[in-house]
Amino acid sequence: MRLNFILNDFPRLDEDVVRPNDLPLTVCTASMLEPAKAGHVVWLTGLSGSGKTTLAKALAYSLHQHGYPTLSLDGDELRAGLCRGLGFSPQGRTENIRRAAEVAALAARAGLIVLVACISPMQIDRGQARQIVGADRFTEVWLDCPLSVCEQRDVKGLYHQARCGAIPCFTGISAPYEQPVQADLVLKTDRMNVEDCVLGLLNQLGTVDHV
Ligand code: ADX
Repeated sequence: MRLNFILNDFPRLDEDVVRPNDLPLTVCTASMLEPAKAGHVVWLTGLSGSGKTTLAKALAYSLHQHGYPTLSLDGDELRAGLCRGLGFSPQGRTENIRRAAEVAALAARAGLIVLVACISPMQIDRGQARQIVGADRFTEVWLDCPLSVCEQRDVKGLYHQARCGAIPCFTGISAPYEQPVQADLVLKTDRMNVEDCVLGLLNQLGTVDHV
């Protein structure tokens, strides 16, 4: 079944904030997303600046348009509240991801489509998240964007600070990012625009086989 899209001038992935009003109307057939109604977690992993927040907002907007309830859990927002004070040590990140996964699992069980946008740099932590949520409800999406591109975008100016040594343990610079080995979907966000990424995500959700 084909998605029927009306797409005009989607914002680029390197534009920091996507507001709902910036987005064009996205039309898709409800039946494609039927399985997702049962509750699901879309876990977006990737370097800072790879487009996680932008895509989560665009996908949430598209899903809302069609009446699907969503919850967005964004790394920066979680770290301002639920995960405040955890820091960016390996242990801090592990706990950050565990908390995000626990909340996501609860919300998915309640029937929401949960969009998690966390760097989640370690394979073991992403694996634990999958386990917490339940593999049948979990879709791991790798926003595969070269460090050089993310650094060039440097939307928040953090890469510059990390290079200057002002931010220690910065992912991709002075802390590792382990490339996913079991991603359900890989989006090359340096080459794809937002509309194609959202289409890929909707397609992936529509084919999740768990109900
Ligand atoms: S994670 O590694 O634990 O998954 P998370 O996604 O929650 O990270 O938070 C990442 C955000 O925190 C980045 O987008 C950036 O704005 C901010 N940040 C601050 N310090 C760091 C750091 N050392 N490494 C990565 N991101 C950092």
